[in-house]
Amino acid sequence: MSILDNRPALKAEIDKVAEVAGYLWQKGWAERNGGNITINITEFVDDQMLAMPAISEPRPIGKVLPSLKGCWFYCKGTQKRMRDLARDPMANGSVIRILPDCANYEIVADVPVIPTSELPSHLAVHDYLLAKGSPYRASIHTHPIELVALTHSRKWMEKDVASRMLWSMIPETKAFCPRGLGMVPYMMPSSVELADATIRVIDGDYDVVMWEKHGVFAVDTNIIDAFDQVDVLNKAAQIYISARSMGYEPDGMTDAQMQRLSYVFGLPK
Ligand code: 13P
Ligand code: ZN
Repeated sequence: MSILDNRPALKAEIDKVAEVAGYLWQKGWAERNGGNITINITEFVDDQMLAMPAISEPRPIGKVLPSLKGCWFYCKGTQKRMRDLARDPMANGSVIRILPDCANYEIVADVPVIPTSELPSHLAVHDYLLAKGSPYRASIHTHPIELVALTHSRKWMEKDVASRMLWSMIPETKAFCPRGLGMVPYMMPSSVELADATIRVIDGDYDVVMWEKHGVFAVDTNIIDAFDQVDVLNKAAQIYISARSMGYEPDGMTDAQMQRLSYVFGLPK
């Protein structure tokens, strides 16, 4: 018995998470248990689900998140591998619901897999998005090799310097990651400080932010689109690195070429 039985719409969303988990492993971005995904599944909750008993004690989120009242999420399990989740999402992740105090959650299905250690960042960002009236329902954290490498240089950590370079490598980068790449200075993984800093940078109008010397955190309407934003950025970083390994600094598209793109595609920046 699974919570996904006879719930094709919910299953379709979890299947997308499994699909993306497979891509993360194939790309080499998900060593061991690296990375995590959460999706807001509240819109799929029915009366039977509301009546389901918890299968864990209440557990603290680490923050009080008022906009998450009554919300439900699917979360990757902590220490679980993306390559395992790709095969069996309900054994490597769980469905949780936020308790009325908005400070604790409980696991509801299928088995009591403890959610990712980065839950404070994921849930704080979902709370921020709901408060803003955003249609975004998915968040992903992963360790893309070339993007993380960029954050080891102070130059690329400066505001919008990496964004500009990445956008200028290939027109699609700006078209499909139109808000660019925000930068969050190094903070302890899984900390509430990291969650707060992530929100501050996302609030500066980014869908994708780097956690310095660690990984990327991205949001979008669904998990496929969140993954795609990271994928186009990392592709651009790979093009930059390829040019550098051929012995030269790539010219990049000009400012005028990029402005024209924004005009023609109606991009926000
Ligand atoms: P979890 O296994 O707890 O999801 O952690 C992986 C990770 O990438 C932490 O930043
Ligand atoms: Zn990580």
